Amino acid sequence: MPASSPRAHCATRLRRRTSQTQAIILGLFGVNSFGCVSSLPQPTAAQAASAQERFPGTTVEALADARTTYAQICAGCHTLYLPDHLSAERWPATIHRMQTKHRVALTESQHQQVLMYVLSVRSPRQSI
Ligand code: HEC
Repeated sequence: MPASSPRAHCATRLRRRTSQTQAIILGLFGVNSFGCVSSLPQPTAAQAASAQERFPGTTVEALADARTTYAQICAGCHTLYLPDHLSAERWPATIHRMQTKHRVALTESQHQQVLMYVLSVRSPRQSI
């Protein structure tokens, strides 16, 4: 990924498909939980090890690839939500909603990567 891309993602603005109301809502709630690519946590070995319980065979490299997928696919309409934005329980349904309600096209493996990334790098025990 070129060095300039985090800035490009930060500059991403809400696009046409998001209504003004949604933009305001996103603005209000997003202040502390939006991130640019550069603020997305990099996976650690410890996180990869504990991720193996739910995602067998997970490596740090696989989590880093998953982070890239997340950054590439999920920054199109809003800036990136940090993994701590939602509880572990709410992430799966939210990703599903992006697919069904907002027509985000994800292959099965991209879906798995996004889910694996956000669930694996969340702060322990944090939930909303
Ligand atoms: C086509 C536009 C679009 C894309 C691409 C998109 N989203 Fe969203 N997303 C939205 C809209 C619109 C909302 C606000 C309405 C809602 O929550 O359904 C939103 C809200 C969210 C929220 C906040 C939910 C909450 O309850 O606080 C999260 C988290 C999120 N998106 C994650 C993702 C992830 C993960 C991806 C990549 C798989 C993604 N989004 C890609 C349109 C998009």
